[in-house]
Amino acid sequence: MPQRVRGVIAPGKGAPVRIETVVVPDPGPGEAVVRVQACGVCHTDLHYREGGINDDFPFLLGHEAAGIVETVGAGVTEVAPGDFVILNWRAVCGQCRACRRGRPQYCFNTHNAGQKMTLEDGTELSPALGIGAFVEKTLVAAGQCTKVDPAASPAAAGLLGCGVMAGLGAAMNTGNVSRGDTVAVIGCGGVGNAAVMGARLAGAARIIAVDIDDNKLATALRLGATHSVNSRSTDPVEAVRELTGGNGADVVIEAVGRPETYKQAFYARDLAGTVVLVGVPTPEMTLELPLLDVFGRGGSLKSSWYGDCLPSRDFPMLIDLYLQGRLDLDAFVSETIPLDGVEEAFARMQKGEVLRSVVVF
Ligand code: APR
Ligand code: ZN
Ligand code: ZN
Repeated sequence: MPQRVRGVIAPGKGAPVRIETVVVPDPGPGEAVVRVQACGVCHTDLHYREGGINDDFPFLLGHEAAGIVETVGAGVTEVAPGDFVILNWRAVCGQCRACRRGRPQYCFNTHNAGQKMTLEDGTELSPALGIGAFVEKTLVAAGQCTKVDPAASPAAAGLLGCGVMAGLGAAMNTGNVSRGDTVAVIGCGGVGNAAVMGARLAGAARIIAVDIDDNKLATALRLGATHSVNSRSTDPVEAVRELTGGNGADVVIEAVGRPETYKQAFYARDLAGTVVLVGVPTPEMTLELPLLDVFGRGGSLKSSWYGDCLPSRDFPMLIDLYLQGRLDLDAFVSETIPLDGVEEAFARMQKGEVLRSVVVF
C-alpha cells in the first residue's frame, strides 16, 4: 500500500520550499522504504532549490540522513526491517569502468529508487541527489542503505551521508594523511572542519586552519586544529610556509571552491605534497598558473568526490569511532529543527551561522 507522508518540496526555480504530501510506493525488487529519523541541511539542497543543478522541478530535498528500514522489496539482502541505516547518494553498480578500476565513487551507473515518489496528484518528484530525505519515509535502492550501530544518535549519524563524510574522507581517503603530517585546511565550514577532524584521526602532527571568519577558526581549533590563520589579514601561503620551516604542508585541503583559494592551496603545499580539492567551483571560474610551478612543484593535485568514501567500509567504522568518543560528530549539529524549518535554516547557512542544521523527525 502506498503511504502518504510529509516532505519538503522545492516547487520551482528560486521559490521557497513548502511542505507537501508525498506518496511513497511499496519497495520494488532491490528497494527499501526507510523511516527517516534525521536529515541535515546541506548547501546542495539550496543549489537544487535555486535551479543551480538542473531544472527537474519539483524536487524532494534532503540527502544527509539516517533512519530505520521499514520494509524491503524482493531480493534485498543488504538490510532488513528494523536496521538502523545511514543513507548514501551513490549506490554503486560494481560493473562499470570506474567500479572495475577500483574507484567506485566515480561509478557511472549509480542507481536509486526515489524517482518513483510522487505528489498526491501524481506529479513525479525528483529526489535531490537521488535520495529525497526531508520526508517522513523515503524509497531508496537497498544499496543506498548502510547498516550501522543503532546506539548512534540519528542526527549525528546522518551527517556522514554527505558533508561530514566529504571532509573526513578528503583527509583520510583522498589525501591519505599520514602520521606526523602537516595538513593545511583552507575553508573551515562544515566540510573543512570535518577535514580538520579527519586529519587529526589520521595522526597529523600539525593542522593549520585557514578561514576568513574568526568564529570558524575558533571551531577548527576546538576540533583539533593546532594553528589558525585568518586569511583576510594574513597571507595563508606565507603563514603555512613560516610554520613549516619555509617548506609548505604535506597535504593541503581546499574546502571553499574559489579560484583564489585553489591557488592558495596549490602554493601552500610542500614540494611533492598533495593538494586535495573539495570545494566545488562554479562553471565560469578559471585559474591561470605558471606551468613551471605546476611542473616544478611535483606532487599531486586530486579532487575529492564524496570523500572518496566506500559507505560499507567507512560508515560503520566512523560510527564506531564516534561511539568510542574519538570522533565528535555531535560538534557539527549546530541545531535541530522541525521539518518546516528548512527554509529558515537555508538563511542561517548562507549567513555562515551554523555548521549544520539537522531536521529531526
Ligand atoms: N578564504 C578562506 N575561507 C573562505 C573564503 C576565502 N576566500 N571564502 C569563504 N571561506 C570560508 C567561509 O568562511 C566558511 O567557513 O569557507 C567556509 C565555507 O563553509 P560553508 O559555507 O559552511 O560550506 P561547506 O558546507 O563547508 O562546503 C564547502 O565544499 O563540498 C563543498 O560544495 C561544497 O564548495 C563547498 C565547500
Ligand atoms: Zn559502477
Ligand atoms: Zn550534501
